[in-house]
Amino acid sequence: MTPGTSTGRLAERVAVVTGAAGGIGEATARLLAHEGASVVLADYMGDRVADHAADLRNAGYNAVGVATDVRDLHQVRRAIETATDHFGRLDILHNNVGVNFHNLIGDASEEHFLECLNINLLSVYRGCHVAAPIMTIQGSGSIVNTSSVQGLMGFRTYAAYATAKAGILGLTRQMAVDYGPSGIRVNAVLPGAVDTPMWRAEVATTDDYAAEIEASAQRIPLQRIGTPEDIAQAVLYLAGDESSFVTGQQLVVDGGLSIAGSRPNEP
Ligand SMILES: NC(=O)c1ccc[n+]([C@@H]2O[C@H](COP(=O)([O-])OP(=O)(O)OC[C@H]3O[C@@H](n4cnc5c(N)ncnc54)[C@H](O)[C@@H]3O)[C@@H](O)[C@H]2O)c1
Repeated sequence: MTPGTSTGRLAERVAVVTGAAGGIGEATARLLAHEGASVVLADYMGDRVADHAADLRNAGYNAVGVATDVRDLHQVRRAIETATDHFGRLDILHNNVGVNFHNLIGDASEEHFLECLNINLLSVYRGCHVAAPIMTIQGSGSIVNTSSVQGLMGFRTYAAYATAKAGILGLTRQMAVDYGPSGIRVNAVLPGAVDTPMWRAEVATTDDYAAEIEASAQRIPLQRIGTPEDIAQAVLYLAGDESSFVTGQQLVVDGGLSIAGSRPNEP
């Protein structure tokens, strides 16, 4: 199959997006396809990525869904090799899967902490471990890892999650240094509060969801919660040629959440 479409910012590129069943990953997979890339959508919700891929194909794009649990190296390898088998190359890898874990170090069992690192950080290692040799042989590639503002800032009860998200930033920098000479760029996107199933599950503590969104938005200088498409646009920038001199960087997309201070009595 010829990779991608011949028009768009990612014409004839091939991309793999993990966590593509919903939220940020789905929005990114759709945007990359609209910009001309052939896309492999990987997620452990295999039926959902198969449906999204069928939608995209019906709209004239190249897309395949692959049931993938990112806790398993063999499944990650299969997802990435789906890109090379179907479309002949691998230009873009968006390591996007993430799951919130709440804990205080004093209460968190070693098992709980390790499981959080497994899903949120080792998944990124697995994707990079498989993709880097393929991209090295090609002499080009762009990897975008989804971290979080929680990789930079402390929020209560996120010890393991914040550790994983900060670890992604270290891995991103290190890979950028090691693989830059091979033509591979590696960057991180750091979302703030983004309206996805994950974020809704976090904030929906009462029935008045609209009020909770409003309260969260007031803490953000741009006075709104992000959309999955806001993050997808940042991934598109980092994935494509517009960022060809950018590597090892942390692109914060949070409406200003992480640069705003607050007084003790402010929300
Ligand atoms: N939504 C936010 O406010 C926010 C903020 C900062 C960072 N992030 C990060 O953005 C990324 C995407 O988050 P989202 O908000 O879109 O979440 P989401 O829950 O909407 O989507 C995550 C996707 O990952 C998939 N997934 C979970 N575990 C998996 C596994 N083991 N193997 C394969 N797939 C798995 C889920 O099925 C889901 O489709 C995550 O890395 C998250 O940590 C999100």
